[in-house]
Amino acid sequence: MKNKGNKMDVIIIMSSDLAGGVRKFSAFIRRDGFKSLLITNVKDDPNAAFCDFSIYFPWKEDLNPLIGELNLSFNIAYIINACERLIHWQLKLIEGLNRNDPNLPAYYFLKSKYDIRKKLHTEGIEDIQFIGGTLRDLLNTQCHYFPCVIKPSYYSGASRWVRTCIDDAELKKTIVKFLNNPLLIHEEFIVEEYLPGIEFSYDGYVENQKFNGLFLAEKLNFDYQNNHDGDSIISPPVTISKQSVCALEKKIRKIVKILHIHRMFLHIEGRVNEDNVNIIEINARMGGGEYSSAIKYITGIDPIKTMFELVGKDEVSQPEEHSPKQYTMMVKFNIKQRGVFKSLTSLTEILALPNVINGYISDGFEISSLERENVMAAFTICGDSYEEVIDLREHIKKNFRFLVSEKHTINTKSRS
Ligand SMILES: Nc1ncnc2c1ncn2[C@@H]1O[C@H](COP(=O)(O)OP(=O)(O)OP(=O)(O)O)[C@@H](O)[C@H]1O
Ligand SMILES: [Mg+2]
Repeated sequence: MKNKGNKMDVIIIMSSDLAGGVRKFSAFIRRDGFKSLLITNVKDDPNAAFCDFSIYFPWKEDLNPLIGELNLSFNIAYIINACERLIHWQLKLIEGLNRNDPNLPAYYFLKSKYDIRKKLHTEGIEDIQFIGGTLRDLLNTQCHYFPCVIKPSYYSGASRWVRTCIDDAELKKTIVKFLNNPLLIHEEFIVEEYLPGIEFSYDGYVENQKFNGLFLAEKLNFDYQNNHDGDSIISPPVTISKQSVCALEKKIRKIVKILHIHRMFLHIEGRVNEDNVNIIEINARMGGGEYSSAIKYITGIDPIKTMFELVGKDEVSQPEEHSPKQYTMMVKFNIKQRGVFKSLTSLTEILALPNVINGYISDGFEISSLERENVMAAFTICGDSYEEVIDLREHIKKNFRFLVSEKHTINTKSRS
């Protein structure tokens, strides 16, 4: 570790509500001889134990005291942020600390769903209709297209506060309801045309301004009513045509160019139908949950390591030797019931099944809101054919047993 003028050389990891891959990033940072500094909005954040230093900052206050503290005590080598709702804070940190970052122009658009929509529209990349602003602004703006989707521009994640509205009355009713939530009063929202079609995600990274696609996946049994993922996500896609994939890749290449993205991991989501491929969101990070395991299985590339290398190294290391089966699937248990999740099947039991690669079970977590996706368990599986992965998915769904109890247990952990 380097230590200039009694100041520690650190790499900042930004985190919001425990998200941000903190433990994994910290391990890479430490392996590289640096110290990790966690900045978190959770008091007594359990991830702090996995970092060298931690600072509590609620991501809503004046940033200047934090900048002062950082300048006084640390030499900041890099900033790692895998939470899109913190990109505008990341921008403020970069500016406040007088740092250079080649991705800076891109962050100005990626920070907000409204800003990126405006940019894609101006550049002629996407032509869907949209309006944006605070809830009060939107109450006074006429929306001319229905169905539409209203969603937060900055404060996004896990499909929280995303609603499809079929007409003006429903949109106004939704806005008025959101206005009653103190968390949302000052938030920026976007109201955009509803995009029909099959939902996909595409993960990859940009190096030397070139997009390297790693993992294109199709969401199966999508929950269109709640705008939540369904029971599984499969790669390669099974119904998306080659022409649509080509159109998508062309669009991504254009986006990388117009945003001047230099080096960045990207998780892109969108929908495809007979006529169009549309982008729904662009995240400056890898997909969450089981995505890292699935990507590592199929490509040999560890996305966390790659994201770390994109931020702090000159080159991204090449993948390890691997020979994956043809299909990879993430099986998800999104629980739609409030209470404490208790698994009756152990992770070891599921991992012992043939063709199960990885997984997690959030045993003891409390589901306090159905506003968001609550994926309490997920498993990465593989197979030589589509039928084989579907059979294994059904086997897991039948055999993975759990309870959602109404009473709080002593070991309850809470999720934001
Ligand atoms: N314009 C749209 N047309 C159709 N569906 C949409 C549109 N915008 C959002 N959705 C649906 O709502 C979901 C959540 O929206 P979005 O991905 O923008 O928010 P998010 O909170 O970042 O979600 P997540 O973190 O789960 O990806 C999308 O996956 C999609 O199913
Ligand atoms: Mg999304």
